[in-house]
Amino acid sequence: MERIRHSRKLQARADAERAAGHRIALVPTMGALHEGHLSLIAQARKHADRVWVSIFVNPAQFNEKSDFESYPADFEADWEACERAGADVVFTPSSAELYPAGAQTWVDVDRLSLPLCGATRPGHFRGVATVVTKLLVAARPHVLVLGEKDFQQLVVLRRLVIDLGFDVEVVGAPTVREPDGLALSSRNIRLGPVARSRATVVVRALDAAEAMLRAGARDRDRLLERVRETLAETPEAGIDYAELRDPMTLELASERLAGPVVLALAVRFPADPDGQGAPVRLIDNRVLNALPATASEAADRNESLTLEECS
Ligand code: PAJ
Repeated sequence: MERIRHSRKLQARADAERAAGHRIALVPTMGALHEGHLSLIAQARKHADRVWVSIFVNPAQFNEKSDFESYPADFEADWEACERAGADVVFTPSSAELYPAGAQTWVDVDRLSLPLCGATRPGHFRGVATVVTKLLVAARPHVLVLGEKDFQQLVVLRRLVIDLGFDVEVVGAPTVREPDGLALSSRNIRLGPVARSRATVVVRALDAAEAMLRAGARDRDRLLERVRETLAETPEAGIDYAELRDPMTLELASERLAGPVVLALAVRFPADPDGQGAPVRLIDNRVLNALPATASEAADRNESLTLEECS
């Protein structure tokens, strides 16, 4: 495995690999690698002959300086993890190279960046889109592997690749979870033990919505009410957003659900009462399929659910 620090050198390597007929997959990360990232490397291997991992904590996508400054970093551990997972190149550009002095060029994926995380973290997706564009220019990969964990990011970057005409296949990889269902995230280590045990409420909220949908409920707002009720069982969980949207366009799902929808959640947890841990905002999502039922079936099922819930 080789470490490459400069875009020019990576571009030259990409040219050589392409000339030799090799396919390159890029897995962009901000380091603090966990099993979720490693699963992306494994996915990348299925799609390409060369797997390149970039590690760059991108200042442009952080809204809060403190979040950027406290972002976990352990290069030695990341290097070992990449090696174990079978990466070929680790690209570690500097901030000064990716954002040269006087930089004023940004990539903005317009409407897809506005809702959900875009609403609570203005400018976040502009930072993501800009840095991923720079990484695509540097690595010239055939395949870009991204996690479904960051669902909106995946949708935004799929759009970017189409709009800017990058000849790259975007592969979305499923979310890797702890045994209790909590999605792996570099931010999980900031949860104190109490917050860590409370955080599973996010998964319970996703499960509750899925169960209701499976039972035949198709009313968007009633589903969201159930999600909010479930989250409220943990009073410390502060809801940033809980929304049902179209998984392709990210438009709000229609009042009567039909077809696939994504339930997207962002929930804040405070530091533990004894001061352990720090405030953490977690995101998670689940794509649900509201399979069409006949109008009368759907009405019947919603009716029976209403009665059950009232009792
Ligand atoms: P980062 O948070 O380091 O995530 C890197 C990649 O790992 C993303 O594609 C993310 O969706 C994926 N990932 C995170 N947790 C995962 C999990 N539990 N299971 C599977 N995949 C998971 O996302 C970023 O970095 C940045 O925004 C980046 C794209 C690198 C641009 O700076």
